[in-house]
Amino acid sequence: MDKIILTGDRPTGRLHVGHYVGSLRRRVELQNSGEYKKTYIMIADAQALTDNIENPEKVRQNIIEVALDYISCGLDPERSTLFIQSQIPELCELTFYYMDLVTVARLQRNPTVKSEIQMRNFEASIPVGFFTYPISQAADITAFKADTVPVGEDQLPMIEQTREIVHKFNTVYAPVLVEPSALLPENEASKRLPGTDGKAKMSKSLNNCIYLSDTADEVRTKVMSMYTDPLHLQVSDPGHLEGNTVFTYLDAFCRKEHFGRYLPDYTDLGELKAHYQRGGLGDVKVKKFLNNILQEVLEPVRIRRKELEKDIPAVYDILKKGSEAARETAAQTLSEVKSAMRINYFEDEELIRTQSERFGEGA
Ligand code: TRP
Repeated sequence: MDKIILTGDRPTGRLHVGHYVGSLRRRVELQNSGEYKKTYIMIADAQALTDNIENPEKVRQNIIEVALDYISCGLDPERSTLFIQSQIPELCELTFYYMDLVTVARLQRNPTVKSEIQMRNFEASIPVGFFTYPISQAADITAFKADTVPVGEDQLPMIEQTREIVHKFNTVYAPVLVEPSALLPENEASKRLPGTDGKAKMSKSLNNCIYLSDTADEVRTKVMSMYTDPLHLQVSDPGHLEGNTVFTYLDAFCRKEHFGRYLPDYTDLGELKAHYQRGGLGDVKVKKFLNNILQEVLEPVRIRRKELEKDIPAVYDILKKGSEAARETAAQTLSEVKSAMRINYFEDEELIRTQSERFGEGA
């Protein structure tokens, strides 16, 4: 029971079902498993600012959205510490010292940073803060001595970079920091849930996300217009599963018991898929099934969110209390880090004594 979880999200929008199967669902299970001493969930506003320099208001507005999504999904402030990154100045201090342990070349090789630089057209002029965010992410994780980081696959290079920093720190100074491991979703579909249009990436600008806070009608409309198999024109045609978004979503969301409740003619997903491939199974029937499942998952989330929205100050208060608690832990780690680095001059009686002896001898 000494295991510790830390993870988080950039507050750049409401969270969607990709976040849910990619990490949120898992976090709630872990929180409730009783196997972890601590669970820290961070709203990474400082990291969001590294690539939203023009748009600080977006980040500011979305902190509450993400907090509402977290709590309505089942992250429980009584059991998990929910906090805001920028409110923990110790993280900046750790980042500054970790910078000594990382080369520019190593950051340039980080695959996530590489692709994000391309996506944002940063090639010509990369903001230093953005370039170094993997180091700050290492500070986020190590400040809480987290060993378990539930994240999506895109975050693996960050965890790898953190492990290297930890290893280097512990070797050069003293074994203070903990090497974390990523915890990935259990199935492929959950690792990379595509947008409803079948495009690989869910994004607000593509208008292809199902949000946790969507109404029942919005969810239904989005499901019914999902991308399936363009060759499956008539019900009798054989259908294809590859790239078929509805089936990818079923892979991520469907459990055996859903068949009993919503589609009792089949016993499991294997059977449904086989029928689709054989021909004779229409898209609408499959979409209705998926809609039923998503409504079952999202309805309790939506109801909890509506409740929480009635008392927004209370939600900010949760974040404030969480940030205070998180700060205490981060300060403790920072103090250990500074001792290990021997930059704790005023607490080091030995140093003061030996120095006074050295100068005393000359007198
Ligand atoms: N990089 C993560 C994302 O883009 C957010 C994040 C910041 C994070 N610090 C973290 C995730 C530490 C896990 C651990 O979603």
